[in-house]
Amino acid sequence: MKYNFDKVIDRSGTSAEKVEGLKHIWGRTDLIPLWVADMDFATAPFVTDAIRKRCENEVLGYTGKPDSYYNAIINWVKQRYDLIVTKEVINFVPGIVPGIGMAMNCFTQKGDKVMIQPPVYHPFAWVTTRNERTLVINPLRWENGMYRMDLDAFREQIKGCKLFILCNPHNPGGVVWTEAELRAIADICYDEKVLVFSDEIHADLTLPPHTHRPFATVSEKARMNSVTFMSPSKAFNMPGLSASHALIFNEDLRKRFRIYMDAGELDMGHVFAFLSVEAAYSHGTEWLDQCLAYIQGNIDFVDEFLKKHAPKIKAIRPEASYLVWLDCRELELSQKDLNEFFVDKAHLALNDGEMFGKEGIGFMRLNVASPRCIIEKAMKQLADAYQLYIK
Ligand SMILES: Cc1ncc(COP(=O)(O)O)c(C=O)c1O
Repeated sequence: MKYNFDKVIDRSGTSAEKVEGLKHIWGRTDLIPLWVADMDFATAPFVTDAIRKRCENEVLGYTGKPDSYYNAIINWVKQRYDLIVTKEVINFVPGIVPGIGMAMNCFTQKGDKVMIQPPVYHPFAWVTTRNERTLVINPLRWENGMYRMDLDAFREQIKGCKLFILCNPHNPGGVVWTEAELRAIADICYDEKVLVFSDEIHADLTLPPHTHRPFATVSEKARMNSVTFMSPSKAFNMPGLSASHALIFNEDLRKRFRIYMDAGELDMGHVFAFLSVEAAYSHGTEWLDQCLAYIQGNIDFVDEFLKKHAPKIKAIRPEASYLVWLDCRELELSQKDLNEFFVDKAHLALNDGEMFGKEGIGFMRLNVASPRCIIEKAMKQLADAYQLYIK
């Protein structure tokens, strides 16, 4: 391997949420942090090099979006997903969640119904309710150890909604949706006049042999009735740079979004935003392949280790992302006791499954994007606690 993912980097003193948050959330610092969805690996070096190079010029003034930024996005999505976009389709947004919030305010009104599919990335619900929209829940179905969409319920529940927020691929379940599922929801939403936001932040982390299918590519109805959110932030470990984009193929929707964004200059970006996206997409292929292979290795390790040493905790192997959904239902613990087991007994900080909706009760989310030695230490602590308190 050309890149070193084994290197342990001390993140203390950087205000890293994953590390500093231990004190705020659990009131202690002796936990291995395996929660917030960023990686403990060095950010892709060509990204940090580009930032360093920019700093050689001492003026950090207002910065526009060069054509090379747009071209890097155009080439990346073409190469990886056969998704054809032009410059006009690309709209800079300062992060995916902020982008979803902005687009929600642009395209819907207070009180409008917005549907999500829990257990799902929790800010989908926050953004909806904090913007005074009404949340509609279409829970995923648990089927043969993985989540699938409940299309019959979807068809009924979507009636009267104005917006559906799709997590594609899905966090925390790690599901890569089938083309049939995506096409079905595209048809239903188009017929019911419900706009679709497709959050594809985890797309670049799709693990072979699975392949990501952008929502906008499944049909013309999908393309014309959606906003697709993408970013190199997860895959290249640069979420602190707040640089993402919303792809809007429908000209009418695009015009409305531009007017909304221009009114508050919401797409200004910052001096490092565009050059870092450009660097990631222009030089990222080899780094990303190696990173995904390393993550795959960590997932294998966790899966095998749990089978051997903590068999009542089942790793749901993600088809995309470094987030492993742990099915802990066989432990038969209340959610409070489950959290206490992980924190007080195993000294690990994971995401409580319930934060993704009540459908996540009985689950915990484990982030394995850390050097193997950290994951090994965490699993050892888990096995020791399991031996003492579960067996
Ligand atoms: C599905 C999903 N969307 C969005 C985000 C966050 O994106 P951003 O930091 O750009 O708002 C995450 C982070 O974990 C995520 O999992």
